[in-house]
Amino acid sequence: MSADTGAGEADAGARVGVIGAGYVGLVTGVCLASLGHRVVLRDIDEAKVERLNAGDVPIYEPGLEALMAEHRERLEFTESLKRLLDASEIVFIAVDTPPTYSGDADLSRVHRVLDELQATGADARHVLVMKSTVPVGTGERLRAELDARGLDGVGYCSNPEFLKEGAAIADFLEPDRVVIGDFRPEDGDRVEALYAPLGAPIMRTSVPSAEMVKYASNAFLATKISFINEIANVCEEVGADVDVVAEGMGLDKRIGPAFLRPGVGFGGSCFPKDVAALKQLAGNSGYHFQLLTSVIEVNELQKRRVINKLKKHLETLEGRRIALLGLAFKPDTDDIREASSLVLAARLLAEGAHVTAYDPVVNGLGERLAGVEIHSSAEGALAGAHAGVLVTEWRSIVELDWSAVRPSMATPLVIDGRNALDPASMLDAGYVFEGVGRLPEALR
Ligand code: UGA
Repeated sequence: MSADTGAGEADAGARVGVIGAGYVGLVTGVCLASLGHRVVLRDIDEAKVERLNAGDVPIYEPGLEALMAEHRERLEFTESLKRLLDASEIVFIAVDTPPTYSGDADLSRVHRVLDELQATGADARHVLVMKSTVPVGTGERLRAELDARGLDGVGYCSNPEFLKEGAAIADFLEPDRVVIGDFRPEDGDRVEALYAPLGAPIMRTSVPSAEMVKYASNAFLATKISFINEIANVCEEVGADVDVVAEGMGLDKRIGPAFLRPGVGFGGSCFPKDVAALKQLAGNSGYHFQLLTSVIEVNELQKRRVINKLKKHLETLEGRRIALLGLAFKPDTDDIREASSLVLAARLLAEGAHVTAYDPVVNGLGERLAGVEIHSSAEGALAGAHAGVLVTEWRSIVELDWSAVRPSMATPLVIDGRNALDPASMLDAGYVFEGVGRLPEALR
């Protein structure tokens, strides 16, 4: 581990600190180190810092461990904020901002960082860069707080992250855009310089606009998903195929093909939280954001539609063995926050079903869903099942030898919650099969 501040002088890169070595902080720190900057990451979790110092990445993100190993000499992990402030000038804040009961974002961790920065002696050498998603207006409030605490020399910028879990490294290193909001252009210039090696489009703006770009982008993407899910539901009524419809829509350049995959609803630590926070933010200002209210409601209903499909085929769920395939909120992550699998599992248990499950990475759903029987293979989860539900389109699940599995099931029913399986092959393999937005009889 390098602990020598002086060594930084030999580097062309900047001296960067990252407060919070969670998902966003770690990806940001490692990627900035890969651009040639010296990065000190600080976390209050002693065990995590130890693991990181041992070269062990505590989260599942493809490519992260290798990139960290490659640029290890420019990375340092510490519990000490003093060490971070001594060794860095540009200080990213990447602590989490979970939702509160009212749907507002909980900024208590951000405020704790501010207290600590004051106590530890942040000064005019430092520019704080907010990476965490914070409600619009937070930057202005924090700027005022910094000034009131005599930290008026400390710079402040907003630089929202647009990282997708599972593809975070590529998203960081090949971004569609880098958005930087500042109060003083010289602070924004210093942040912009960090990203210069990427050659990416850089947008400079005010702090509130930068904060809003983040919320509006996530809300729009979530709207696209709820929209296509509703189209899928209508397709089921009228005999159209939503995948064909989405393809036809996506060819229009104004619409584009991305985020038009129907399914069992969006989950994860970002969309549900950010959509709720934007709705709440609007509401707090006296504006009823009707569209977002519907986006959220459609998403909740979408998660539950599978239950009715199962009931249609099995009559009752009482005593039935139902296998959930995939638990993470999407493939290539171990994250189950707000995952549709949680709602499905809970609903199935409440209906009296016996729930089995398999995920290539997630191996438990916690105490509240302790009734779910976790298997170490998809075949194990499906053995004796009255139905299998594809919840997360992990490649290994999609590519299962479905013909070989069928005889082990009590009834050969599969509901594909992600339209990831080939309907013709599933029907040929002898399954009773349903996707989302495609009528079984129209699948051939
Ligand atoms: C999302 C955004 O895509 C990132 O740009 C943003 O930075 C991030 O939130 C954040 O705010 O930090 P992420 O939550 O990792 O990233 O996941 P996505 O890949 O966007 O997927 C979100 C959910 O939408 C998943 O449950 C996925 O299955 C679902 N989805 C996505 C669909 O149902 N249909 C689609 O067409 C696309």
